[in-house]
Amino acid sequence: MDEYLEFTREFFDFTGIDLQSYKRPQMERRLTALRNQLGFSTFKEYMARVRKDPQLLHQTLDKMTINVSEFLRNPERWEALIPHLKTLSAHGPLHAWSAACSTGEEPYSLALVMEEYVRQPYSILATDIDENVLAQAQAGVYRPYQMRSVSESLRRRYFDEVDDTWRVRPRLRAQVTFRKHNLLADAYPTGMSLIICRNVLIYFTDEAKQRVVERFAHALRPGGLLFVGSTEQFLKGYTERLVNVGPFLYQRQS
Ligand SMILES: C[S@@+](CC[C@H](N)C(=O)[O-])C[C@H]1O[C@@H](n2cnc3c(N)ncnc32)[C@H](O)[C@@H]1O
Repeated sequence: MDEYLEFTREFFDFTGIDLQSYKRPQMERRLTALRNQLGFSTFKEYMARVRKDPQLLHQTLDKMTINVSEFLRNPERWEALIPHLKTLSAHGPLHAWSAACSTGEEPYSLALVMEEYVRQPYSILATDIDENVLAQAQAGVYRPYQMRSVSESLRRRYFDEVDDTWRVRPRLRAQVTFRKHNLLADAYPTGMSLIICRNVLIYFTDEAKQRVVERFAHALRPGGLLFVGSTEQFLKGYTERLVNVGPFLYQRQS
């Protein structure tokens, strides 16, 4: 077995994270770069250190995928979502899940849109595999470049300006529950009206993506929607239970 595969096996035994479910060329390149940067010449040495050093495990998680996010990422997609949110809210509270939420811009964007344009009861579960990004999400403090799609008037209503940063107001923060969750291993919630999963499925192998998409279909209530990222118009053939109902939007059939 080659050295990288051996590493992924040991890494899985140690962390429960299956690196083989991520596209290999990208993942191997990223982890080799980190390994070299840290001065290890083999994955064997690197893994031996990961076992002893929790900080290195965090660094590895950080390198695995890009964590970059921003508020109202692809603003036109969020605008197109508003009528769907109104329909989904028509028969009771909207239960949403922002899966792989990174530093929190995505679930807070949804909370903002619900407050500003929908004004119906809702709850948001926001999850990610990486505890570091979740801690930042919970703090809810953002730099101006992460806010570039948020208008001045929305900023004033939903954020407090503190020095050179924007802090999400407690009322909005209270709507979002953050939790650690591995899309490739952990149990999924059920009864969701909306799942937002953007810019993470692209890292997964086709087999892993298939499994995740099927589990999303199961996690949605009939009529519920899956909102995916702009490079992820992929679902044709993955499951019959999700039907494309708009750009980057899929609906669970009953
Ligand atoms: C590029 S960010 C996406 C953030 C946000 N969804 C967006 O589109 O702006 C990708 C996130 O996926 C998370 N991630 C990677 N593998 C994961 C897994 N197996 N389960 C849950 N989250 C994962 C990473 O920690 C990272 O925060």
